[in-house]
Amino acid sequence: MNTQPVILETRKIVKQFPKVLANSDVSIQLHQGEILALLGENGAGKSTLMNILYGLYQPSSGEIYLHGKAVNFRSPREAIENGLGMVHQHFMLVENLTVTENIILGSEPGRGLTIDYAAARRQVKELSERYSLKVNPDSRIEDLSVGLQQRVEILKALYRKASVLILDEPTAVLTPQEVEGFFTVARRLRDDGVSIIIITHKLEEVKAISDRVYILRRGKVAGMRETSTVSKEELATLMVGREVVLTVHRTPHQRGQKPVFELKNLSVQGERGGEALRDVSLSVHPGEVLGIAGVDGNGQTELAEAIMGLRSVAAGKIIHKGELVTGLNTKKRIHRGIGCVPSDRHRHGLVLPMTISENIAMGLHRDKPNARFFSLDYPAMNSSANALIKRFDIRAPGPLTAAEQLSGGNQQKVILAREISRKPSFLLVNQPTRGLDVGAIEYIHSEILRMRDADAGVLLISLELEEIFSLADRILVLYEGQIVKELKPENSSEKEVGLYMMGGGP
Ligand SMILES: Nc1ncnc2c1ncn2[C@@H]1O[C@H](COP(=O)(O)OP(=O)(O)OP(=O)(O)O)[C@@H](O)[C@H]1O
Ligand SMILES: [Mg+2]
Repeated sequence: MNTQPVILETRKIVKQFPKVLANSDVSIQLHQGEILALLGENGAGKSTLMNILYGLYQPSSGEIYLHGKAVNFRSPREAIENGLGMVHQHFMLVENLTVTENIILGSEPGRGLTIDYAAARRQVKELSERYSLKVNPDSRIEDLSVGLQQRVEILKALYRKASVLILDEPTAVLTPQEVEGFFTVARRLRDDGVSIIIITHKLEEVKAISDRVYILRRGKVAGMRETSTVSKEELATLMVGREVVLTVHRTPHQRGQKPVFELKNLSVQGERGGEALRDVSLSVHPGEVLGIAGVDGNGQTELAEAIMGLRSVAAGKIIHKGELVTGLNTKKRIHRGIGCVPSDRHRHGLVLPMTISENIAMGLHRDKPNARFFSLDYPAMNSSANALIKRFDIRAPGPLTAAEQLSGGNQQKVILAREISRKPSFLLVNQPTRGLDVGAIEYIHSEILRMRDADAGVLLISLELEEIFSLADRILVLYEGQIVKELKPENSSEKEVGLYMMGGGP
């Protein structure tokens, strides 16, 4: 039992969106200096509840108490003034400003009317050293990896003296190696008296980092547990309302003779010069999943972008069904049956203001069933979108809901539904289950295997070895832009692959 005083509490919070009841009588308590996990399916209402606490949304009814006093934040500014900080599921930094500029934005320390940049910079540096949140205060946001951008978001909250920190899926954007460091930071903050709410879909993370856990299901609190007394299986069941298979069942499958997709001696330039990929050759056969293992930043992004025609190649060939596609644009590649699930769903995957239906038709909007006589056939688009909403269990009122109104995980499901339903002969999936709940992961993994069993070739890029081992028939390790090793999962171990990923090996 936690004997610390309750610092923040919600009582019977209800949030009704025009067509969705996102929160229904949600009552939770956060104690001083604890790490509280919030777990729940995609669309269960986690982000909504946190956005209400942070003053971004107003509840339809219900109350919030901070230090025992009823509060009603009408904006994040008010929440921040009262000691709340939040790091959102999708970051909100200004890309072309520096780290320090971003951190002080909105709360510039005054020196008359000019901003004392030097003082702010010093403070940022102090905070970053105290909590081992190392980042260069003068870097531009656009030049930082997501892991570093997250540090900036946390520093921003600390700079504003947050005593309650809300973190919406902080680990979804981190590499497994970064997660440990992040947990150390979270524990240090807790020891300094900061209370933390952390949303995650990973049951082992709930076990590793939290003191207590609330489980939300379809807008309601399905339970609260002391973390030390609950098992992963029980958490999964509470969350989904049924038992979840936490391991994938993969049956042997004979792959096709001729590769469906090949890279021959591919070299690609990185963002800031230098070779991001060097002399990469690989082939994907019909009916196999080829897994690319590697630590983030070893060429995965460039590999995916080159395959989709979003980045030009410096040397080498890209071949699909025996034909050269190196010079073709993205649209032409899609038309030939190359599919892609990108790792950044907002940048390359979806057009947020457009509807689910439009997002699903995208790229093939001039073809049947989406178009008739050169104009979009909306009824046909909607009915195929509707079928996919059912099949992929996308939690949305209907096909005309805008993508931006979906929860993060459901946005991801829209992309997967679109790409899988097009039955590509070759599918590139980059971090396909990032941000998905355990039930959705179970389903997506089985769909990927179903594609393989229907003789599509799948190239899986994932930072998670567990996912690679569950799905891949062969594993290639990408290190510093080169393929350094090929392994068979049945003759290898996560530990061995991990060694090659770090540039080691026997
Ligand atoms: N601005 C909005 N307008 C309309 N509906 C919304 C809006 N924001 C969220 N919703 C809906 O409210 C429900 C809860 O969404 P929320 O983002 O809180 O889920 P979540 O638990 O954070 O899910 P995930 O794990 O996928 O991030 C979803 O059905 C979502 O579509
Ligand atoms: Mg969310």
